[in-house]
Amino acid sequence: MDKRLVIVTGKGGVGKTTVAAALGLAAARRGKRVVLCEVGGHDRLPELVPELTTVSVDPEQAKQEWLRYQLKSRTLAGVLGGSRLFQYLTAAAPGLSELVTIGKVWDLAQIERRTGSTVFDVAIVDAPATGHALAMLRSPSTFASVARVGPVGRHAATIDRSLRDPSHTGVVMAALPEEMPVNETVEFERALRRDLDMAVDSIVVNAVHPARFDREEVGRLRSATALRPVAQAALSAAVSEHLRARGEHAQVRRLRRAATAPVVTLPRIFEPELEREHLERLSAELERRL
Ligand SMILES: Nc1ncnc2c1ncn2[C@@H]1O[C@H](COP(=O)(O)OP(=O)(O)OP(=O)(O)O)[C@@H](O)[C@H]1O
Ligand SMILES: [Mg+2]
Repeated sequence: MDKRLVIVTGKGGVGKTTVAAALGLAAARRGKRVVLCEVGGHDRLPELVPELTTVSVDPEQAKQEWLRYQLKSRTLAGVLGGSRLFQYLTAAAPGLSELVTIGKVWDLAQIERRTGSTVFDVAIVDAPATGHALAMLRSPSTFASVARVGPVGRHAATIDRSLRDPSHTGVVMAALPEEMPVNETVEFERALRRDLDMAVDSIVVNAVHPARFDREEVGRLRSATALRPVAQAALSAAVSEHLRARGEHAQVRRLRRAATAPVVTLPRIFEPELEREHLERLSAELERRL
């Protein structure tokens, strides 16, 4: 909550947007001026948290804008001719869209911003899934070492320093209590440390089923017989829910053992659609547990 920039990532579909929105609400409750930034997402944040400032960044579009701006403002546009140079740069600089995107995100977190007048205490980023998020976080370091001289290299180095400064930037991972998301979380944490010497601050395991029955109660559920078929179906549903919860809790324990970052859980909400009240419940839980 004290960082200026918080990156939320995780495997696809595990609850990154939900966790980012829940964090945003929690920060706003503490009186922070929050900007929520969705990168390459479905633009769902304005609907989820209409009272917060939201920004959506499309990496491809951000890159094109940046190149057009560079070409217009620099004489080198004339050297090769605008469109050929444009194509050349786009092809020659893999990672450029990641760099421009993280640059936009970083800009939102700056106290003194060059553009606009709104200043935020914290920028929370609903980042792309793990692989793309890692490429995005790595791009400033890559560009800074490739382009040692010139404004792009200098800017990349500044962004890289802020990202790696734990008092400036935090990383939150969302996960589900399942085999693959747990593996991907652990791998991302390792890759982040290996490539950038950065740590994950918290892991949020989302949508965990509650353990409703103890051992003795499960025994009774299993041995009970009901006369009416609907009641018998309810008994087996209760047992299978229990098995599911037990499997999920085993995954949470596995994650706690394998990960370095602290692991907190959020409950599964049993509703077809997450409504505003549910998001607030998750947000309150998250605030308590972080
Ligand atoms: N704790 C929860 N209980 C029940 N449903 C949830 C919970 N958290 C998220 N969901 C629902 O699960 C779906 C996926 O969540 P969300 O969109 O936050 O994931 P995501 O990681 O951002 O997905 P994507 O990778 O597609 O961006 C959404 O429909 C969301 O409403
Ligand atoms: Mg999302």
